[in-house]
Amino acid sequence: MTSTEARPVVRIEHAEDEKVYSTAGRGQTFGEILAKRLSRRDGLKGVVAASAITLAGTGAGFAAAQDGTPAAGTPGAGGNGLSFEALANGVGAEAIVADGYQFRPILSWGDPLTPDAPEFDVMAQSAAAQAQQVGYNCDFVGFISLPMGSGASDHGLLVVNHEYSSGELMFPGYVTVGPPAEGEDEPTLTFNVTQDIVDIELEAHGLTVAEVIRGEDGQWSLVRDSEYNRRITATTEIELTGPAAGTELLRTAADPDGLTVLGTLNNCAGGVTPWGTVVSGEENFNQYFANAASLEPESIQALSAARYGLNEEASDRQWESFYDRFDLSVEPNEPFRFGWAVEVDPLDPTSTPKKRTALGRNKHEGHTSVAVDGAPVVIYSGDDQSFDYAYKFVTAGNYNAGDRAANMDLLDEGTLYVAVFSEDGTGEWLPMIQGQGELTEANGFATQADVLINTRLAADAMGATKMDRPEDFETNPVNGKVYLVCTNNSNRGVEDNYGIDAANPRAANEFGHVIEITEAGNDHTATTFEWALFITAGPNNDQTTDYAGFDKSLVSGFSSPDNITFDALGNIWISTDGNDVDEANDGLFAVPTEGEERGYAKRFFQVPDGAECTGPVFTPDNSTLFVAVQHPGEGGYFEEQLNTWPDNENGVAPRPSVVVITRTDDPLAPIVAV
Ligand code: FEO
Ligand code: CA
Ligand code: CA
Repeated sequence: MTSTEARPVVRIEHAEDEKVYSTAGRGQTFGEILAKRLSRRDGLKGVVAASAITLAGTGAGFAAAQDGTPAAGTPGAGGNGLSFEALANGVGAEAIVADGYQFRPILSWGDPLTPDAPEFDVMAQSAAAQAQQVGYNCDFVGFISLPMGSGASDHGLLVVNHEYSSGELMFPGYVTVGPPAEGEDEPTLTFNVTQDIVDIELEAHGLTVAEVIRGEDGQWSLVRDSEYNRRITATTEIELTGPAAGTELLRTAADPDGLTVLGTLNNCAGGVTPWGTVVSGEENFNQYFANAASLEPESIQALSAARYGLNEEASDRQWESFYDRFDLSVEPNEPFRFGWAVEVDPLDPTSTPKKRTALGRNKHEGHTSVAVDGAPVVIYSGDDQSFDYAYKFVTAGNYNAGDRAANMDLLDEGTLYVAVFSEDGTGEWLPMIQGQGELTEANGFATQADVLINTRLAADAMGATKMDRPEDFETNPVNGKVYLVCTNNSNRGVEDNYGIDAANPRAANEFGHVIEITEAGNDHTATTFEWALFITAGPNNDQTTDYAGFDKSLVSGFSSPDNITFDALGNIWISTDGNDVDEANDGLFAVPTEGEERGYAKRFFQVPDGAECTGPVFTPDNSTLFVAVQHPGEGGYFEEQLNTWPDNENGVAPRPSVVVITRTDDPLAPIVAV
């Protein structure tokens, strides 16, 4: 494919720059903190899981499908089922899976989703076509068995979100590359944005609901005439619900009631609820809004714009040139209508998605839930920015396993908590309730809506622990512990930035880490917890790297952990975004969480150049693993593509795709069985 040496370097960043805060460094070295952690580790052994929990996205019946345990001393010993041979590090235009497994795209950008939808033609795109085709940059993947609640692993709904569009890869002529400006090394880039392009991009965002079915040959396919198939885009009407809905800051000229917003943007990690809805997080919504410099100084709009990183001047995307709602000089409140958790009912194709304001407003990730029949539901989420926070939401009402309708608005009422991680390995969930502690009118929080709309400002005031980009946050169905993935934070402790602490123990943390949390009494509604570092990621030869104490020379080192899922044996599967270990693309790594192989990370799947690996999820019987390959070819542009995966030699542009991974010898057999 295209040589990276022969063309100008075009790096178009879609994630926001890391937000930098002033320092409050605590003066501890990594060695001191690691020593404390190791001395604490033994004290956490033997904690067992609550048995009565229901974990969204996992299914019953897997244990019965297990037969055979590998001999001790071989990979997969201890019954963790991970007997595959780890993939060597690699790069290239192809995706690669470990020996013994096969993969195939099932939903690619542009695939027609309905009987009437046109076939994809990258040279003849239109907004109307895109609105009926799979969106761009798939991220979260949820699998919901059909019939709902059946635990079926051969038939279901895939709910996929589409984080953002990559105009430079999607559209011919989008980028003009000019010579460097005087005194600069990088070429000058001009983005040629038109109304047609913006309209297509709006339809390429959002979510896709797609019915999929597995044939007797083990091959999955889209049910194109399904009544469930649906696109939700950046122009779909979405209802604002919960305590902030209808309040002043959510009102705009187009929506004077503050109850209906057009679309959802930048959806990243999400979760499936036990009642079969999807909660998807709006992440870097800030990038779509322009001209924050025009906001009235000291106004809440201006303070919030600064804290959430909205563009001071024009945006790279230039949507504000075509739609006033993205221009803060015209519509200062529109950004308050993004940055929420969005709940979608994929089982009702006519349902209106809902932005659940009770879960707060930030750069949302995670939203994996835990529910016990007759008890409150707990949803964990991260705010993915350097020095931002980890949250959980506990519903006021109780989950009703026998009455789906009774659960449909549970997420409108409850308590949002933010995490404090203490040096001694304990932690506390602080309730974010107006009138309590620092959340007073004098501090700018006159109502609960103020707390929820500016969740970051509220958490700042409360002194929550500033984390290294908390992303996915999910419960292990076997040991009941909760795993918080911190992707990286290269600004930690650098210059005058905030310094290291026990839960974020590396300065200039470019590799990321995974924290293991045990809620008090294994009760997910508890307000205290114990925690420990599970993995401090990075290359095997980096002295700060630690894989739960496992022999580092044996593991597949990785960095920038991002999304996670669990198989039915309790192994954690970690996908990466920005793997920076030797010559290795991003990928998916399987890691036992218990037993003698705890920490033995093995590379299972590799994504092509430019891509990140996202959205891993198993069917309930673990025979199929769905993975999203996001932004393949990022770093190129339309006329100089890095690759055109998955079509490659037949392709014109890369197509972000959800792939299906199964065993090769028996696609119906569990992936982790031996
Ligand atoms: Fe869209 Fe935090 O990754
Ligand atoms: Ca991500
Ligand atoms: Ca996940």
